[in-house]
Amino acid sequence: MGSDTALELKGLAKTFGPRQVLAVDHFVLNRGEIHGLVGANGSGKSTLVKILAGYFDPDPGSEVAIFGKRISLPIHDPRGHGFGIVHQDLGLVPELSVLENISVGVNYGTAGIGRISWRREMGSARRFLDHLGITIDPKATVGSLDRGAQTVVALARCLRQLEAAEAASLLLLDEPTVAFDRDEVEVLFGVMRRIASGGNAVLFISHRLPEVLEICDRITVLRDGKVVTTAETEGTSLEAVVSWILGQSLETFFPPRPPVSRIGPVVLRVTDLAGARVRSISFALSQGEILGVTGLEGMGQDDLPYLLLGLRSGGRGRVELAGEDVTGLDPAAALKKGLITVPSDRAKEGLWTEGQVFENLTLGRLGDYFRSGVLRKQAEQGDAIRSMDTFRVKASGPRAAVNSLSGGNQQKVVLARALRSAPRVLVLHNPTVGVDARSRHDIIELVFQAASNGAAVLYISREYEELANVCDRVLVLNGGQLEGVLSGSALTENAILKLCHT
Ligand SMILES: Nc1ncnc2c1ncn2[C@@H]1O[C@H](COP(=O)(O)OP(=O)(O)OP(=O)(O)O)[C@@H](O)[C@H]1O
Ligand SMILES: [Mg+2]
Repeated sequence: MGSDTALELKGLAKTFGPRQVLAVDHFVLNRGEIHGLVGANGSGKSTLVKILAGYFDPDPGSEVAIFGKRISLPIHDPRGHGFGIVHQDLGLVPELSVLENISVGVNYGTAGIGRISWRREMGSARRFLDHLGITIDPKATVGSLDRGAQTVVALARCLRQLEAAEAASLLLLDEPTVAFDRDEVEVLFGVMRRIASGGNAVLFISHRLPEVLEICDRITVLRDGKVVTTAETEGTSLEAVVSWILGQSLETFFPPRPPVSRIGPVVLRVTDLAGARVRSISFALSQGEILGVTGLEGMGQDDLPYLLLGLRSGGRGRVELAGEDVTGLDPAAALKKGLITVPSDRAKEGLWTEGQVFENLTLGRLGDYFRSGVLRKQAEQGDAIRSMDTFRVKASGPRAAVNSLSGGNQQKVVLARALRSAPRVLVLHNPTVGVDARSRHDIIELVFQAASNGAAVLYISREYEELANVCDRVLVLNGGQLEGVLSGSALTENAILKLCHT
């Protein structure tokens, strides 16, 4: 084990029940290196991180060495070994403040015996947040922040812990950029470069492959828990990475669009909608149309789904569905009228996290499975298995705990449930966050199918390339108002980017 090695894994494996989900023969992270770890949903990336975090015990025979020294497993004190980790689910306590979250697990700066010096803590928290170039009130409750800000808090906590541990650092980042704008990505990349150039090392997990190729020195590709290849990023093409990940090449990143002739009369009409960060928005959405909505962080697009459902207090304006006033309908009543929202934060709003996969797939449709007062469990499970097939939901079976699914597969469960009910209006909020290239292709294909079958789709996203390839029109918001509308040949990734920054 060379002295240039920051982290070395040998025969690192993890088995859940009958399934071995990770079997890494050999992996090396060098000092000074930023190393990308990529792979399809469920390929074992988070499992690897969770073993290093001491959250999972690896299988017997696994070996881990840090800066040339073999350590005993399972890992009990990840921070003591120098690991700074931002988990895929962030691992924050939503009820606590930013300050309390950042201070968790660090010996509090005490002033006198047993008293926490909150003033010093506050100074320290601010310093770490400033360092990340973001203004967040340290007293704010974490649960009230959006995902991007929460990620910054998790990152600040991680950097704080690394500093307190005084060990050489190994930064492990599990999909930290899913909710980030380009500016925030730049800040994060700056932090990663600084850590790497100090003789430490960074492991960066992401499905955003162009970013991975941009920031990483080398990448390692996992497929079904095994290392397929490790390669220098220089001279490696995006297409090559995708084919390593999938085990086959993907002909196109986006499926072909259905013909424009599918677009029919207006179904959803929104007039002067306002509330939260939205100042005033009006638009009409037609049957079969896919209407994109985007903007930089905090420009209002993320409040839109909640305003449509009357879930933001102080919301104003009028929402009409096929001519009927449906302003302020709650989600259940909206569902009855055929308006379905697929939320961005699946863990908080989209999933019944204690349930099994099939229960989550059939949630809200149990009525379909009752005959003469008896729940036809078999029919329910049969349907769930079909949905799992269509959406390539990777799980050990319909009875798997939904919590045990990989992030991307949880996302597919939420979408599968919504699309099965043939909605009139489908509101998708960041539908492809955290999903791999093939799943994204599958999901978009299903959205196209829904649109061809007459669903009017509101597609809220910050993936500009995806918006340009999926939507018929895109509304760009700025300061809670409409900045511009792009359609036809004017609808390009670059045009969206430009309009967002005006
Ligand atoms: N606690 C658990 N019990 C059973 N199976 C699990 C558990 N945790 C993870 N798995 C399984 O291990 C496999 C790898 O999951 P993991 O979360 O590591 O994937 P991933 O590469 O991080 O995917 P994603 O990109 O979707 O986040 C998946 O098939 C998942 O269902
Ligand atoms: Mg993961």
